[in-house]
Amino acid sequence: MSAIESVLQESRVFSPSAETVAGAVISGMDAYHALAAEAERDYDGFWAKLARETLSWHKPFTKVLDESNAPFYTWFEDGELNASYNSLDRHVEAGRGDRTAIIFEADDGTVTHVTYQDLLQRVSRFANALKRRGVKKGDRVVIYMPMSIEGVVAMQACARIGAPHSVVFGGFSSKSLNERLVDVGAVALVTADEQMRGGKALPLKRIADEALAMGGCEGVKSVIVYRRTGGDIEWHPERDAWMDELAQNESDRCEPEWVGAEHPLFVLYTSGSTGKPKGVQHSTGGYLLWAAQTMKWTFDWKPSDIFWCTADIGWVTGHTYITYGPLALGATQVMFEGVPTYPDGGRFWSTIEKHKVSIFYTAPTAIRSLIKIAEADQKVHPKSYDLSSLRILGTVGEPINPQAWVWYYENVGGSRCPIVDTWWQTETGGHMISPMPGATPLVPGSCTLPVPGIQAAIVDETGQDVPNGQGGILVIKRPWPGMLRTIWGDPERFKKSYFPAELGGKLYLAGDGSVRDKETGYFTIMGRIDDVLNVSGHRLGTMEIESALVANPIVAEAAVVGRPDETTGEAVVAFVVLKRPCPEGEEAVKLASELRAWVAKEIGPIAKPKDIRFGENLPKTRSGKIMRRLLRSLAKGEAITQDVSTLENPAILEQLAQAR
Ligand code: WT7
Repeated sequence: MSAIESVLQESRVFSPSAETVAGAVISGMDAYHALAAEAERDYDGFWAKLARETLSWHKPFTKVLDESNAPFYTWFEDGELNASYNSLDRHVEAGRGDRTAIIFEADDGTVTHVTYQDLLQRVSRFANALKRRGVKKGDRVVIYMPMSIEGVVAMQACARIGAPHSVVFGGFSSKSLNERLVDVGAVALVTADEQMRGGKALPLKRIADEALAMGGCEGVKSVIVYRRTGGDIEWHPERDAWMDELAQNESDRCEPEWVGAEHPLFVLYTSGSTGKPKGVQHSTGGYLLWAAQTMKWTFDWKPSDIFWCTADIGWVTGHTYITYGPLALGATQVMFEGVPTYPDGGRFWSTIEKHKVSIFYTAPTAIRSLIKIAEADQKVHPKSYDLSSLRILGTVGEPINPQAWVWYYENVGGSRCPIVDTWWQTETGGHMISPMPGATPLVPGSCTLPVPGIQAAIVDETGQDVPNGQGGILVIKRPWPGMLRTIWGDPERFKKSYFPAELGGKLYLAGDGSVRDKETGYFTIMGRIDDVLNVSGHRLGTMEIESALVANPIVAEAAVVGRPDETTGEAVVAFVVLKRPCPEGEEAVKLASELRAWVAKEIGPIAKPKDIRFGENLPKTRSGKIMRRLLRSLAKGEAITQDVSTLENPAILEQLAQAR
């Protein structure tokens, strides 16, 4: 069924129960509107109050939002704090050191509990070890690690000494890792011998060695290795050290480095519309406020909750809703090493049951794939588990189709748990448009209304507001504390990408198309308006994949587009022209599979094209521009109804229409 059909079939509104409203952090729509009105009345005062209540400041701030150097906005600039102090020490100092911070569920089901006290000691030891290896405030540390307590320890230790971290997702290739090490100018790399996922070991250290050998990152003096499997690895004694051995020799006390609120906490790379990923730079004060505040509001978080966000720490969701938001509040959370289908498709449900998870946050793509598995095998259906501990569900990363929403609501949430469909981005730091579970009536497929204080709007190409009911470009009208501060090393690109002159230079351009409902004003996200694809909630630049393809010596030209996909949301389709005659039959199948493997090696398995089609040429206008619109239709298998009279080579369409 198409997305449109399923939207049309679902027009129910799901309001929170009286019980959910009663105890909620934001209790009822009046409370939501009151917060939004308060922000409107006194924007600075609103955020200043929350920043004082939610965070602990070493030196209080006197300034709030500074717009004098727009769009390089600053927040709480003269205040000083430390993100790790806020995540750990203050809970221990308040007598909550025995509280469980992380319930770690390993791939093989082994469970480890870590208290706030333990975590503080481990972070302090590792922070001391980093310092001993010469890492100083302002130095960048790249983290290429599996989902692990050690991964959180590494991030928090960097924060403790004021060294911005840059986490690279463990599924990225050596080449992607190398590009990031070079761009961010890393002095150290923290990795693991191997990563365990679904019973299989993957060689992280070997990929890290390859990345370092590619050069350009000679500034990396230390490679620190977390011993996960004990598998065989190569060792460079002058450079490499074991994480556990380093920590053993260090004190478990480490005075946090107090940094200015604008000090960069981390840089996280994400895809844009050009070939080169952007290093999204976040601040310490504004970001941490955003992480903690949205965690409280959107998940209606209470100290009694067991929170579980299934994202990887390699993505922003893992930064904000594993490493920083939950810890800043002193929450107890589950952290999961494995995959949702191992040992079977019931893993999420059995883990919720086992740890009595009350707030569960995952991606639509995971839900869609688990629906298929559950419907085929009742043993791993959520109904076969006791999920009564759940009270709030969330989704993130891509639009959720109403059918999947309703399945999630009924089968996982027992028709009792509100679903928060959270729209946000790497750049926004945390949730921007999302239901508040104890207030907002839910409409499947809509992320509903902005977080209190956020002014989201839909405009046309000139930056003018469009009326509700009419689609347009999603923008944010005022700066917010959690926003990115710049693109690492490229302030011009920051300005151009996010505050384009075409829209007047003051609106934050999200890069998504959206429409608001005529009656409710609810937002529905329609997908990216730039050359960015969303595959299983992962952001991929079409240009990045094209560059990877043309880097192969047999490829002359390549164009990449997205195609709607039932499970992954979008799928990558590549149209390829070779430097040799257009292959056919078995040869084409063989070359397509070689090129898929090539892309996996160049970028990472997530970027592999699902479909590769060969042609003598690509459809181009007489001025040589590739007509991507036509390629998108071909990728979907649609008949070409567009006007092709401007096409240089119309015959090519037939050739490209054939899938491999
Ligand atoms: C892009 C951002 C936000 C953390 C994970 C992804 C899409 C995100 C939703 C949602 C529809 C969504 C947008 C956005 N997106 N959340 N609830 N409904 N689309 O972060 O990799 O920076 O990607 O993901 O297209 O621009 P990201």
